[in-house]
Amino acid sequence: LTSRAASTSSPKFVVKCCTSRHDTSREAVRLPGVKRTLVIVKPDGVERGLVGEILSRLEKKQLRLVAADLRTMDVATAKRHYAEHEGKPFFDRLVAFITSAPALVMVFEGPDDTWRVVRTMIGATNPAEAAPGTIRGDLAIEMDGNLVHGSDSADAAQREIAIFFPDLA
Ligand code: RTP
Ligand code: MG
Repeated sequence: LTSRAASTSSPKFVVKCCTSRHDTSREAVRLPGVKRTLVIVKPDGVERGLVGEILSRLEKKQLRLVAADLRTMDVATAKRHYAEHEGKPFFDRLVAFITSAPALVMVFEGPDDTWRVVRTMIGATNPAEAAPGTIRGDLAIEMDGNLVHGSDSADAAQREIAIFFPDLA
């Protein structure tokens, strides 16, 4: 009885596991493209001459640079990129800042969950609270000058790469 119960419950668990809504991120990671993530050295990072430092940190981690484009973002593209923040008090300031001067928009590639690895390396949104050892923790101090953007999920990585590098989508 025990072994029959085990053999009938086991396949059920597997089916439940693979179709569960909680498994979405694991499935997404297996799709082409999601081992890649979007990274932007924001205008303050370019202005401060920190492109080399930031790139170097990501490369030393063994993430591979797949694409890079130094560009001054237009307002429509910035609004699309930061669409999740539309309506928030800081949205207009954020769009004005990101479009104010050239930013280095890049795609990095690594093993699974590259977006998460990059986010960990970037550190907390508020640089004053970001841990030492992170890019923001070591190199920035103010929220409006937090140097770098990284996609915050596998879905966001795919969406954002499609905005800036449609050929890679
Ligand atoms: P990012 O998208 O630029 O990588 O930054 P993040 O994920 O760490 O933070 P997010 O919540 O997506 O916010 C986007 C950017 O908006 C500015 N911000 N200001 N309360 C505020 O004043 C505020 N909150 C966010 C920051 O520049 C942040 O990076
Ligand atoms: Mg964000």
